[in-house]
Amino acid sequence: MYPANTVVTDVLLGKRTSRTPVWLMRQAGRVLSEYRKVREDAGSFKKMVTTPELACEVTIQPVDILGVDAAIIFSDILVVPEAMGLRYEMEENRGPVFPRRIDSANDLRDLHIAQAEELSYVMDAIALTKRELNGRVPLIGFAGAPWTIFAYMVEGSGSKTFSRARRMLYREPELAHHLLDMITASTVNYLKGQVKAGADLIQIFDSWAGVLGPDQYDEFSLKYIRRICDEVTGVPRIVFPKGAFFARRGLNDVNCEAVGLDWNMDIRESRQLMPDKVLQGNLDPCALYATRDDIRKATIKMLEAFGPDKHIANLGHGLYPDTEVDSVRCFVDTVKEYSEKVRGRK
Ligand code: CP3
Repeated sequence: MYPANTVVTDVLLGKRTSRTPVWLMRQAGRVLSEYRKVREDAGSFKKMVTTPELACEVTIQPVDILGVDAAIIFSDILVVPEAMGLRYEMEENRGPVFPRRIDSANDLRDLHIAQAEELSYVMDAIALTKRELNGRVPLIGFAGAPWTIFAYMVEGSGSKTFSRARRMLYREPELAHHLLDMITASTVNYLKGQVKAGADLIQIFDSWAGVLGPDQYDEFSLKYIRRICDEVTGVPRIVFPKGAFFARRGLNDVNCEAVGLDWNMDIRESRQLMPDKVLQGNLDPCALYATRDDIRKATIKMLEAFGPDKHIANLGHGLYPDTEVDSVRCFVDTVKEYSEKVRGRK
């Protein structure tokens, strides 16, 4: 039996903790040789995502290997559009691709609002992982923000500019809102299902927030994130609006406990703009390519800027696959050791 580690949920609930909690976006993935082994045996990414035993195994790996304070369920944000009727494929070295994409009102006829039962493999993976974790650390559920999911559904793949998706906002805003509405309803069902299955907190990934301007962000993204946060209750919620520095003031009154910062966002300025929120982040993932000594320094500098309270340490975006495991450990250990020392002095 391991003692229960609840530092992540404690900080989110406003309780005092002995130190700053730490986990990493993309902590379950290619940086771990143990992950690559499971991935090779499984044969494909989707096979792992749809097999609860495999998803459970790689979800727990970083808890054992890296010592992080939370597990995040191994899945992908693109399972939601798939459940709505738009299948995706994960291509090696290219990322996700949709064989069919959404271009016109006609294409919406093949879509439906997804129910949690259509993603039962995720719910089973969550329930199994909760049993296996046995209270060691909280389990994070997640979904993409409607705008980010919309961007993939309209674009058909990743993109530098998402200009096809953004074109729809200008040319056919009603169609865009119709699709965003369907994605939002599906996401609410999905996240409620995850909470019912045992997720202890949830994170909403708005990875492509930064390609919109402030007015469009309010209209086509933040509005729908607000709806999700108003409807999915009972667990703490973290919103990660990558690149949307202009939206920080507005995010302070979204019904969520925490906001994730990317590394472009100034920490002290973010505190002023979002005084009511726990902040998560925000070390540049590339900082982990530096020497151990410099990783330590950069991590301490980040911790000092956030201060000891209302902070969950993380990177400013997901781990890059070629990061050395020992460098990740150095980040995790520095957060734990330094923040514990600071607390001890207070
Ligand atoms: O964080 C975790 O450890 C949990 C697992 C997780 C994955 N994807 C696994 C994954 C999470 C939380 C995601 C979310 C996700 N997926 C996002 C939002 C976060 C972000 O990074 O902005 C996005 C945009 C996607 C879509 C996606 N999935 C892309 C663009 C790619 C290709 C790029 C890449 O990193 O390979 C994926 C593939 C993917 N999702 C992998 C993993 C581990 C790599 C696939 C593999 O191992 O073969």
